[in-house]
Amino acid sequence: MGRTVLQLTILGLLLASAPTLTKKEDWDIYSFHINSTVTSRYATTVITSRVVNRMDESKEIEFHVQIPKNAFISKFRMFMDDQVYDGVVKTKEQAQQQYTEAVSSGQSAGIVSSVGRTLEEFKTSVTVAAHKKVTFELTYEELLKRTHGKYELQIHARPMQPVKDFKIDVYIHENSGISFIDVKGGLSTKDLANAITKTVLDKQAWVYFYPTADQQKTCDSCGEHGMNGDLIIAYEVKRDSGIGDLKKSDGYFVHHFAPTDLQRIPKNVVFVIDQSGSMRGIKIEQTKTALGHILNDLEEDDFFGLITFDHDIFHWKQELVQATSDNLQGAKNFAENIQSRGSTNINAAVLEGARILNANPREGSASILILLTDGDPTSGVTNQKQIQSNIRKAIAGKFPLYCLGFGFDVNFEFLEKMSLQNSGVARRIYQDSDADLQLKGFYEEVAIPLLTEVTMIYIGGTNLTQTNFSQYYNGSEIVVAGEITDNNIETFTPQVVAISKDRKVVFSQTNTSMVTSTETVSVDLIQRVWAYLTVKQLLEKELLLSGSEQEKVKKEALDLSLKYNFVTPHTSMVVTKPQGESTDVLNKPKEGEVPQLKHTGRRIAGASGTHLQTSGQRMGPLGFPGFRYFSSGHPQGDPVHHGLQVHHSFSAGNPQRDRVHHGFRGKKLKLLEPSSNILLTAQAPMLMDFLMTDYSAPEFLPTVRPTMTMGSTFGSISHRFLLKTESQSPSLCFDVSGAVILKLLHHPSRDLFVNGELDSITNGGFQKIVIHLKTDQHIEIDSQGIKVKDGQMVINYTAPDPLSDGSMTIIKRNNEIDIEAEDIRIVILIHIKDGMEFYWPVLRRRPSAGDTEGLLALKPAMYNEVQENPITKVKMGDEEIEAINSTAVDYSVGSPVSVPCWLISADDALQKSLNDFFVTKL
Ligand SMILES: *[C@@H]1O[C@H](CO)[C@@H](O)[C@H](O)[C@H]1NC(C)=O
Ligand SMILES: *[C@@H]1O[C@H](CO)[C@@H](O)[C@H](O)[C@H]1NC(C)=O
Ligand SMILES: *[C@@H]1O[C@H](CO)[C@@H](O)[C@H](O)[C@H]1NC(C)=O
Ligand SMILES: *[C@@H]1O[C@H](CO)[C@@H](O)[C@H](O)[C@H]1NC(C)=O
Ligand SMILES: *[C@@H]1O[C@H](CO)[C@@H](O)[C@H](O)[C@H]1NC(C)=O
Ligand SMILES: *[C@@H]1O[C@H](CO)[C@@H](O)[C@H](O)[C@H]1NC(C)=O
Ligand SMILES: *[C@@H]1O[C@H](CO)[C@@H](O)[C@H](O)[C@H]1NC(C)=O
Repeated sequence: MGRTVLQLTILGLLLASAPTLTKKEDWDIYSFHINSTVTSRYATTVITSRVVNRMDESKEIEFHVQIPKNAFISKFRMFMDDQVYDGVVKTKEQAQQQYTEAVSSGQSAGIVSSVGRTLEEFKTSVTVAAHKKVTFELTYEELLKRTHGKYELQIHARPMQPVKDFKIDVYIHENSGISFIDVKGGLSTKDLANAITKTVLDKQAWVYFYPTADQQKTCDSCGEHGMNGDLIIAYEVKRDSGIGDLKKSDGYFVHHFAPTDLQRIPKNVVFVIDQSGSMRGIKIEQTKTALGHILNDLEEDDFFGLITFDHDIFHWKQELVQATSDNLQGAKNFAENIQSRGSTNINAAVLEGARILNANPREGSASILILLTDGDPTSGVTNQKQIQSNIRKAIAGKFPLYCLGFGFDVNFEFLEKMSLQNSGVARRIYQDSDADLQLKGFYEEVAIPLLTEVTMIYIGGTNLTQTNFSQYYNGSEIVVAGEITDNNIETFTPQVVAISKDRKVVFSQTNTSMVTSTETVSVDLIQRVWAYLTVKQLLEKELLLSGSEQEKVKKEALDLSLKYNFVTPHTSMVVTKPQGESTDVLNKPKEGEVPQLKHTGRRIAGASGTHLQTSGQRMGPLGFPGFRYFSSGHPQGDPVHHGLQVHHSFSAGNPQRDRVHHGFRGKKLKLLEPSSNILLTAQAPMLMDFLMTDYSAPEFLPTVRPTMTMGSTFGSISHRFLLKTESQSPSLCFDVSGAVILKLLHHPSRDLFVNGELDSITNGGFQKIVIHLKTDQHIEIDSQGIKVKDGQMVINYTAPDPLSDGSMTIIKRNNEIDIEAEDIRIVILIHIKDGMEFYWPVLRRRPSAGDTEGLLALKPAMYNEVQENPITKVKMGDEEIEAINSTAVDYSVGSPVSVPCWLISADDALQKSLNDFFVTKL
């Protein structure tokens, strides 16, 4: 069986990739940029991509990306032929109407929607005339959630071809300070790891990912078609013991509450495990594995219960028992012997779980009920409303119910509703080889209760998001946002009241150094966080209500979505497209929709009805599509083109539920789930020359923030360099005086030199940089511009299009010059000081050979501080060097910042004579 599946999969891949290969010369991605800015856990990500149609005829170019499920799209634009096609968020009905009109007037429409484990798709396309370019720009926003003690920003990249001008810039700003930052994910594997640069300065962090076109083929799941995977930026902020991180601005506040220095509260946990027939096989095995780990993690003062059920109920013990090693062993043996059979009596099982918890109240403990099921109720009480009502009565708000829905055969909405009614959450467990880890991961999120009955009080606050939380767990976070009444910050007083292990605790501003934002946050940022949270919570609330109450909540959610331009299940986005173009309708898909596996081998493998079980949600080489373009030829510029497309989505292990959608390309029919749409249709075009404004406009150039006084020796200008450390201890710094020429990089095996001449007027950085490549090729960068000399030939390079010559590519962007040469990538940042431009080179991809030298190739410093009051010395190797507490500006990041450093002499810092770094000729 396994072999058949494998063959089908490979066949599918070949079928899917063949057309892509032949299309390679049809179109080209000029650039692909992802820019994420995270402020106070709120991430705004902009994906910008520029594509050229290389054909002599028009082509349909598709923009296809994946964004985190939790995010709301807030903006989409296309730039083509000096025109901007802008997205406008409308109500679903309005968009639907426009969509219907579009169809009846002969235009066509399509719906795009599908959901992966953590990502969902965004897809649209436009017809691009011969040799013309199109720029797509998508913006989405999300509040990063703290789980397992960290926040994770997930960025998925799959451009479908290596892209010379590919980059990801991430900037994080956390007022309370960043305690660690880590870059993970498939895109950080193998040689691609070399393309990541990370800078952390207390409250700010930058992560740059600048892979060269060659590197883009090298990660674990990358190949000839370039990258395919995630870059995950995980970080945590520093915390004090008080009320937490409170940000206020412009009449709104957001409060992040996650105290850590609390004692754990012993818990009573009852696991209610579905062992019905559908759990048979791998699911039940994975459940057993997970249970084994979970039981091992219980503490001796925890109590637990274990129930399995099909149409009957099986107890390991009738009551809650202490997690002693004997009891745990007994439970593990019981779990080992779980047999799957029969139908599903969820009602009786959960009621029994609730009974056990209710029958064993324990002072100073936290009770938790966890249900794991893979199907709908099929025996006992099967009316879902009745079950919900029974369970709500039994639990009566005393403890949370967490529902884990295993696979795609569960009615997730039913579970979600049941959890929300009982102050818990529902989570889907994806049927995959790591299902046991997902189960364990979920359990760990609720494994350590730190507080119960948490009430967040804001005197002087109004329009608050949820303020009551039944439990607070270690590693998580409570976030509340609201308006400050009359923007009166004086009377605004936050307070948190909760039950800790053995007492009532009150957190207030009196016993805390409350962190209040003094730095300017983008004016409406806090307000957007409030709107984001409010909409999310209204959507949940809507699920719990009915009738006019539900309508009221729905209207509130809709109004906010419209006001803040969020594409949510109630809104749609209408975007202009050129005259006569087909209209695309895009969805915010619902949780539980299976990924559509269009254009990949998976569709075929899935159609076999066997393969999805283990791979449906994996993002392997055959995983569902990420950033992707495809263009399909249509005859001589005819914008409407035909051809049957079959979208096949399927439910795992339930082939008869498969939905097959047929549609004509260009007449993408609306057959999928009727949730929200993004509709693309015509609207009066706005004139705006994006491609021209993109570059060199003064407003785009960075302003240099702090300046510092330089110790100017010998009366000449002196420049300060930072020598960073591996750890977060202060960097070392040293000064270089005079307008000298420095050896920045020498890469012997590639015969590559980079030299730079220090500025003689400002003390910022370099006034001229020259890169020498073999075969008599040079690149000169100075205020005159960028010149590429190849033998006798001289080219004056101008933005925006990249220039390639041999193994070298230059791309000028608004505030940087990006140069790929041989196996390195150097980005020359353009900074301004006292109105003068200067250059600051950074190595964004290190050469693989370890024999490079020069200022750019310095290894991180290693030193120990030796305190000899009043002097401090740093000890490097065996040598003790006097050091002065000082500061330097870090010019290696987009917006330079002043950082503390230990100033030592250049010779000491470099561990050799500075003279060795001088060259006489650029
Ligand atoms: C990324 O976006 C932020 C916010 O819009 C902007 O300030 C910054 O300049 C952008 N960075 C890059 C490298 O484009
Ligand atoms: C909470 O988690 C942190 C690590 O994230 C750990 O250091 C701490 O000990 C945990 N607290 C308790 C009470 O287990
Ligand atoms: C906020 O609350 C005030 C009353 O305190 C109310 O008039 C207003 O409509 C609310 N705004 C929103 C957006 O709900
Ligand atoms: C929150 O809890 C407090 C006391 O614990 C209670 O007075 C209040 O009514 C609750 N609020 C909501 C919205 O449930
Ligand atoms: C904060 O101070 C108040 C009294 O001002 C006290 O009641 C409360 O327990 C303190 N909270 C904590 C977490 O120490
Ligand atoms: C390139 O620019 C220089 C000035 O920097 C100018 O003298 C030269 O004529 C230009 N060459 C071309 C081919 O435009
Ligand atoms: C350096 O000086 C600053 C301000 O004078 C001070 O805050 C800082 O603690 C000093 N650093 C060290 C490591 O002594």
